[in-house]
Amino acid sequence: MGVSYFAVATSLIGLVGDYLFDDRMLKDRTATDKVAAEISHLYTSGQADKLQPILESHGGDMNGRLMLLDETGKVQLDSFSQLNGSRLELPEVISILSMGKTADYGVHELTGDGQRTWLDYLKPYNPNSEWVSYCSSALTKNGVIYGVLLYSAPVEDMMQRLSSLQSRMILYFLLAAVAAMVIALFFSRVLTKPLATLTRSIQRMGRGDFSVRVPVKGSSEIRRLSETFNTMSEKLEMLDTSRNQFVSNASHELKTPLATMKILLEGIIYQPEMDAELRTEFLTDINREIDRLNSIISDLLTLVSVDSKAMRLKRTTFSLAQVITDTARLLQPVAERNHQELKLVINDKCEMYADCAKLTQVCYNLMENALKYTQEGGSIRVRLIRSGRDAVFTVSDNGPGIPKEDQAHIFDRFYRVDKARSRDTGGTGLGLSIVHQMVLMHGGSISVESEEGAGSTFTVELPIHQG
Ligand SMILES: Nc1ncnc2c1ncn2[C@@H]1O[C@H](COP(=O)(O)OP(=O)(O)OP(=O)(O)O)[C@@H](O)[C@H]1O
Ligand SMILES: [Mg+2]
Repeated sequence: MGVSYFAVATSLIGLVGDYLFDDRMLKDRTATDKVAAEISHLYTSGQADKLQPILESHGGDMNGRLMLLDETGKVQLDSFSQLNGSRLELPEVISILSMGKTADYGVHELTGDGQRTWLDYLKPYNPNSEWVSYCSSALTKNGVIYGVLLYSAPVEDMMQRLSSLQSRMILYFLLAAVAAMVIALFFSRVLTKPLATLTRSIQRMGRGDFSVRVPVKGSSEIRRLSETFNTMSEKLEMLDTSRNQFVSNASHELKTPLATMKILLEGIIYQPEMDAELRTEFLTDINREIDRLNSIISDLLTLVSVDSKAMRLKRTTFSLAQVITDTARLLQPVAERNHQELKLVINDKCEMYADCAKLTQVCYNLMENALKYTQEGGSIRVRLIRSGRDAVFTVSDNGPGIPKEDQAHIFDRFYRVDKARSRDTGGTGLGLSIVHQMVLMHGGSISVESEEGAGSTFTVELPIHQG
């Protein structure tokens, strides 16, 4: 920008300079030619003695100096009567006497060394030097040049005008350059500030602080970037919190059976005379706690492998009806012990292409819950129907039901409705979470309908993926 401004300013000063000088040159030439025509006649007719006052009078009118030079360049007459007899080797004189031009014009710096060129417009004005213009006109007789009329006048006023124009241009240039720099700096700050904030936030996040958010402002691209960053950091914060919660819940769940086992073992160690029956009871309890630890650990491992996406479906073709019948047979002794009725209503074999082991776990967990949370003498109904391309499997009971506010959470890890009561029944709160994950892995869905005191119904819909 600086370069283009400089070029424009230079050519503008040049143009103004040319205009001023051309105008002046035209005026000077016309006047000089007029005087030359007038004196030429007197000079050739032998009345040279009348010329001095004429030159003085015209010189005065023209605000300058008129000189008459002979064919050798020697001054014959000078309106200032100072240079008579001296030879003037000015380019404007030489061009007429040696090169045959009829007129010439030039501007000179008297204390300087040469003629005006366009470069002079760029030179700073020197108030100590004097600028003059020379206008020469050939004096001819019968087409032969016998002398030169030279008119010289000061051109200070024009040089000063040019110089002030030059200073103004330099000032404007500096102002424009400063303004451009300020604007450029402002825009670069506006553009880079959000990016710098974002970089700092990413660095903070890299140090493990997921609570960081950036303000959403700036251009549309920067806004989108900031929004995406905020969504990402929210997700990471959620994941971080749930991971911490998971670890702390898991440790807590693992500590409970360990603590029970420690008390029982200390009882056996510090009471060596304990009777055999009580000792067997303690050992049986320890054994039960080990089983519980085992089941918690395998549930945790299942969830961890679902999370890390390491778990894959091992699909085979099998009958879901068969899986339900087998699971019911396995749980029948529990139902009998609790005097509960476990009834199956199956009206389709539901041959499906899915992961048999995982769906067995889904059936087992849901039926086990129904048996576990339903009071003695209650009844559990398991239904399997085919609905279009889906197998619909429901487990209903007439147990205590699940309060509305808990229904949204029962698929969360470690969530138990009645903490104390389900701990007694041995629950960790992982069963439904595993069921949920496995149903999702199969592309199915699970829902619960329940009313407090009236029982619960869990419904699983699974795509059959067969034929
Ligand atoms: N059929 C049901 N009737 C009433 N409450 C239920 C029923 N099924 C589940 N719940 C409630 O939902 C909670 C979560 O169930 P989930 O199976 O995930 O855990 P759990 O049975 O407590 O432990 P786990 O299955 O891991 O041994 C249970 O603690 C219980 O309070
Ligand atoms: Mg359970």
